[in-house]
Amino acid sequence: MGAAAISREYADDALPTGVGLRLPHLSEVAAGASGAAWLEAHPENFLANPHARELLLSVRQFHPVALHTVGVSVGSASGVDRAHLARVCELVDDVEPFIVSGHLAWSTHSDIYLNDLLPIPYDEETLRIVATHVHEVQDALRQRYVVENPASYVEFGASTLTETDFLTELVSRTGCGLLCDVSNTYVSAENLGHDAFEYLDALPARAVVELHLGGFTRETDGSGSAALIDTHSAAIAEPVWDLYAHALRRFGPRPTLIEWDNSLPTFAQLAAEAQHADFIARTALTKGAGRARAP
Ligand SMILES: [Fe+2]
Repeated sequence: MGAAAISREYADDALPTGVGLRLPHLSEVAAGASGAAWLEAHPENFLANPHARELLLSVRQFHPVALHTVGVSVGSASGVDRAHLARVCELVDDVEPFIVSGHLAWSTHSDIYLNDLLPIPYDEETLRIVATHVHEVQDALRQRYVVENPASYVEFGASTLTETDFLTELVSRTGCGLLCDVSNTYVSAENLGHDAFEYLDALPARAVVELHLGGFTRETDGSGSAALIDTHSAAIAEPVWDLYAHALRRFGPRPTLIEWDNSLPTFAQLAAEAQHADFIARTALTKGAGRARAP
């Protein structure tokens, strides 16, 4: 199924929720009958693993697939790693994903790779740098790149724009799409003392093409102060379901993904959480302004 057909399917259907495809589940999913409506994979897991790549292409025969990069560092002041981007583009050509996305963050500097998604200040200089890199990525991909909002733990004193203003301007300058990670929105709002509902209301709705849902953990340091950490290692928290219902009413039906990376449960458990997301979505969109809660 091509990207256009998949987009029509999502437009016509009642929000099938997808599941993040991780390597421990790859053989099982490639064997068939996963029950997932669609899958999202990290390209970096397949660039140097021919067997995994072969299985992904097999999976692609039966499932729509999105690709979500974790190493295309559009926030890096030293520029995007072109060799890495070229490898991602090769995989994109093979897989034909219906969305290619990545993070508003940096993880490389020159030839150093840091296995993390690091924050950027929101100011005009950074906006110019990120916009240049998004243009470069889109030119290489020959399609729209979709940028995800980060989970934040600190704010830069140098920032002169809000995150939503930064993303809105990035969309305006590059034509990129937005991936709204609803859990990241909640984590950032709790950590920084913002209002998560106001954050969703401030995003440019037409640019939002995908939603993420993932679990977080509450961690406390030696001084007793706590923070929410975007660990992708737990079930989705109840306040995030409320926020998800609000996001759907604000943005309309959007492909949604269940993300889980650590303490990985069975694929069947992930598929069950996806079904729960479908229930929340149907309830939110049929009851309009009412709050969606599971039975
Ligand atoms: Fe995410």
